[in-house]
Amino acid sequence: MTLLKIAQIGHPVLRLPAPPADPARLLALRPLVEDMVATMLDAQGIGLAAPQVYRSERIIVVLPMNGRDEEPEAPLVLINPVLTPVGDEQEAALEGCLSIPQLRGIVARWRRVAWRGLAPAGEAISGDAEGLFARILQHEVDHLDGVLFLDRLDVRRDLAVETEAHHLLHERSAPR
Ligand code: NI
Repeated sequence: MTLLKIAQIGHPVLRLPAPPADPARLLALRPLVEDMVATMLDAQGIGLAAPQVYRSERIIVVLPMNGRDEEPEAPLVLINPVLTPVGDEQEAALEGCLSIPQLRGIVARWRRVAWRGLAPAGEAISGDAEGLFARILQHEVDHLDGVLFLDRLDVRRDLAVETEAHHLLHERSAPR
């Protein structure tokens, strides 16, 4: 197990759409998947996508959790993930990214999504997610398409450093 370096915004790998992983190659991707889980946990992240560790592969690891104070379940690894919105409800909330240090922004995401993909051993897996779990999935799948949360801000004033981010939510509730 190796802790991997996390690509920071500005590195082109974060803007490169990742090609689908070949299901016949999954065994060879096992070490990468294990290193991604270890790297995410070490960085105290709640999700990580392969392009964030300089690998252009459609692989994400996420912590299935419904609230930030909640004890997370075991990490979910999804290869070639596909998300489908369930319903049309969106939710705006603060988001950060291990590739964008210190910044937080308000991003609107689908409140509920259905997810599917391959597990590391190759079996097809699927499920439903809502709230924070659905948000993490959408953020990580965006990484596979070269999209960062900054691209999804409605307006630039929805951005703040972590220590000031609580003001954003406050301002949101006021007219502007
Ligand atoms: Ni991110």
